[in-house]
Amino acid sequence: MHVLSASVSGIRNLSPTALSFHPQGNLLFGLNGSGKTSFLESLHLLAVGRSFRNASIRPVISHDCDTCLVTAKINKAGKVHNLGMERHRNGESVLRIDAHNVAARSSLAALLPVVMLDTEGLALIFDGPDNRRRYVDGTLFHVEPSFLAVWRRYQRALKQRNAGLKRAIISNDEAWLFDLARAGESLTNSRRQLVARLAETFQDMASTLSPALAGIELIFKQGWDQQVALQEALTSGRDDDIRRGFTQAGPHRADLRLRMNGRAAAETLSRGQAKLVVAALKLAQGQVLTDYLGFPPVYLVDDITAELDESHAARVCEVLQGQGGQVFIAAVEAEELTRFWLGEAHSLFHVEQGRITTLT
Ligand SMILES: Nc1ncnc2c1ncn2[C@@H]1O[C@H](COP(=O)(O)OP(=O)(O)O)[C@@H](O)[C@H]1O
Ligand SMILES: [Mg+2]
Repeated sequence: MHVLSASVSGIRNLSPTALSFHPQGNLLFGLNGSGKTSFLESLHLLAVGRSFRNASIRPVISHDCDTCLVTAKINKAGKVHNLGMERHRNGESVLRIDAHNVAARSSLAALLPVVMLDTEGLALIFDGPDNRRRYVDGTLFHVEPSFLAVWRRYQRALKQRNAGLKRAIISNDEAWLFDLARAGESLTNSRRQLVARLAETFQDMASTLSPALAGIELIFKQGWDQQVALQEALTSGRDDDIRRGFTQAGPHRADLRLRMNGRAAAETLSRGQAKLVVAALKLAQGQVLTDYLGFPPVYLVDDITAELDESHAARVCEVLQGQGGQVFIAAVEAEELTRFWLGEAHSLFHVEQGRITTLT
C-alpha cells in the first residue's frame, strides 16, 4: 500500500500543490518554518482524521482560507483509490472515497494506516495513559475490523452509567454493569493479545536501536484487578462508584507500563534514550501492522536528525527501509536525509516558503 500522489490546499503556509510520490523514500528538506511538518500534517489529517499538532482543525487551515482540502490517490493491493477530505473552519466536512461521500473519518483511516514518528511521541513516555491507550487502540483499529464497534459500545455504556451515577439514578445500574462488563472484557482481550505481540517486537526493536535498552519492558495493565473478571470488579466497586459518582475500574483505566531494568522508564531514561524508546515503539507498531495486514503502513517521520543522533537516525532508517513500506521523512538539510536513506529508492523534495518542488 502506498500513496501515489496527493494534492493539498488551504493548509497552514503551504501553497496549493499536487505531488507524485515514490513508493519507498520521500525525503523532504527545507529551512525551519518552510512547511515540512505542515505537509506531513496534511497526510496525517487525511489518514487519521485529525492533526498531530492541534486537536481542532482551525489552526491548521491557512489564515486566509475558510477551508482546507487534502486528496490522495493510493494503491492498495493493486487497486487504486481516491481519497478526499475537505474541512471548513465552521466544523463542516466532506469526506470522499472514490466517487462516494462517506460519513465517518474511520472509513478513510481504514484505507490508509499511517505511523507518525516525531517529537510529540515523547508524550507516550512522559504523559498520562491516554496517549498509550491511543497507541494500542489505534493499532487495533487496523488489525481487528470489529474493534471500533466494541470500543464504541464500551464508551457508550460507560458514559451512560457515569451520567446515571452523577445524578444518583441507579435503577438501571444492573443493565449498565452488564453492558460494561461484556464490551469491556472483549475490548481487553483484544488489547491483551495485541500488546503481547507489540511487547515482544518492541523489545527487539529497542535493543536493535541501542544495546543499552536491552532491559526495557512493555507491560499491559488492563485497568482493574487482574485476578477478577470485570463484572466482579464492577460489582464489588459498586457502592464506592455510587458514592464517588463515576465508574472506577475498567478498560478506560488501562495503561502500558514501560519499565527499564525493573524501574519506571519515565524516571530512568535519559532524554536521548527516551527518543529511541519512542522510535522503538513506533517501529514495533509498524512491524506488528505489517504482520497482521500483510503490508507495511505509511510512515511519517518528522525532523529525524533533530530527534536522534547520526548513528541512531541511520539505524531507524535502516529498519524503515527493511520494512519496505512508503516513508515520508523531513529534515533541514538534504544531505542529512540522503546520508541515512541508502540507495536510489527515493524522491527528493525541496520545501521553501510553503512551496514544494520535486527535485528527483
Ligand atoms: N494557519 C496558518 N496559516 C498560515 N501559516 C501558518 C498557519 N499555521 C502555521 N503557519 C506557518 O506555517 C509555517 C510552516 O511551519 P512548519 O510546517 O512547522 O515548518 P517546518 O516543519 O518546515 O519547520 C510556519 O512559519 C508557521 O508560522
Ligand atoms: Mg517541522
